[in-house]
Amino acid sequence: MNRILILFAHPALEKSRVQRRLLKAAEAIEDITIHDLYETYPDFMIDVPAEQSLLLEHDLILFQHPLYWYSCPSLLKEWQDLVLEYGFAYGREGDALKGKTLGSIISSGGSRMSYSNEGRNHYSMKQLLQPFDQTARLCGMDYLPPFAVHRTHDMHESVIDEHSEHYRQILWRLQRGLPSKEETNSLEYLNDWAAE
Ligand SMILES: Cc1cc2nc3c(=O)[nH]c(=O)nc-3n(C[C@H](O)[C@H](O)[C@H](O)COP(=O)(O)O)c2cc1C
Repeated sequence: MNRILILFAHPALEKSRVQRRLLKAAEAIEDITIHDLYETYPDFMIDVPAEQSLLLEHDLILFQHPLYWYSCPSLLKEWQDLVLEYGFAYGREGDALKGKTLGSIISSGGSRMSYSNEGRNHYSMKQLLQPFDQTARLCGMDYLPPFAVHRTHDMHESVIDEHSEHYRQILWRLQRGLPSKEETNSLEYLNDWAAE
């Protein structure tokens, strides 16, 4: 079984409609570690050794967050800046994360169509997430296609429930096996990873 760590970053969970439900879906699965960064570090004082030990104990790390300015909320960026240290995550002898996998669980206001070269956001979600992809590569990790819930603003509660249930199923499957290299390269979204 793949040991999954969800690094959750939402600065205003009390206002969240989508991420809160996705998180609940993840909580329904046994043996997944959920780590709420804004709850743990409201003062942004990240405990680097504790975060690094947590990483060592898991195989698949998922950054779960709303898309903020085409990237992650600032605490998750701070986490990357501090935790992915030289000598730990990269550089000479920095191979602690080698062989592990990173993935992104995103919600966005913009629609799926808008995240294309022809759409109003001009770039695909995979293109916008390239800094995460390359960060993973530099650390010797694989990077999965994103799981994304788009167009959240006017989303009906029942549709949020459907996405949350789909997320639960994907997590359950990821515990038991990761997409192949070919699937990872060809899929735009993990949402489209067909059930066997
Ligand atoms: C500061 C901020 C920046 C945002 N930037 C983007 C963005 O770049 N692209 C986008 O599609 N939506 C953007 N949004 C919308 C959020 O991604 C969306 O409201 C959120 O994913 C919904 O999930 P929630 O209900 O869990 O908060 C932004 C929202 C805020 C508050």
